[in-house]
Amino acid sequence: MTGFDAELEGALADLAARRLTAYRAGDATGILMADHDWLRPALAELRSRARGGADASALQRLVGAIWEVVDGHSRVEEEVYFPAVGRLLAEAGRPNPMVMAMAAEHDALPDRHRQPMEALAAGRDPLPAIDAFSRALLVHFENEEDLVFEDAREALQGDEGRRLARAMAAFLGMDEPL
Ligand SMILES: [Fe+2]
Ligand SMILES: [Fe+2]
Repeated sequence: MTGFDAELEGALADLAARRLTAYRAGDATGILMADHDWLRPALAELRSRARGGADASALQRLVGAIWEVVDGHSRVEEEVYFPAVGRLLAEAGRPNPMVMAMAAEHDALPDRHRQPMEALAAGRDPLPAIDAFSRALLVHFENEEDLVFEDAREALQGDEGRRLARAMAAFLGMDEPL
């Protein structure tokens, strides 16, 4: 295993530990925040390595690892978290149309991921596509945090939050029972 791969494996283990901490606290939104907080420096690292002229295969592995986290994260949002939060807010008389708008923002992400992968595979300069990939994700995280997570945290106090955290952990294959 190269130093690069060992580092990546360590970073992914760190992410799993952070997700577990949020899950144990019954904090459904915290599980998603663990991902956002891990992805922000990971994207900064990707941009800096791309600028530093890292070789294409190392950049492909890093983009691939980041994408795997983003993809699982987006799926648990779409299939578990957003539907529950949308329902709870509607029941509380505070419907939030931004919940489904955030799911719609996911539609552009596969293309944002495909572009740097194609540039790297073709030996083209990957920087513009890596910057666009990173920017799209950072804007999306900020939208979710400002427009949905803040509201959601209020609706997810106590048992509702714990129940949702359990459903998300099961979806994500975090197998420790709570
Ligand atoms: Fe999202
Ligand atoms: Fe998210």
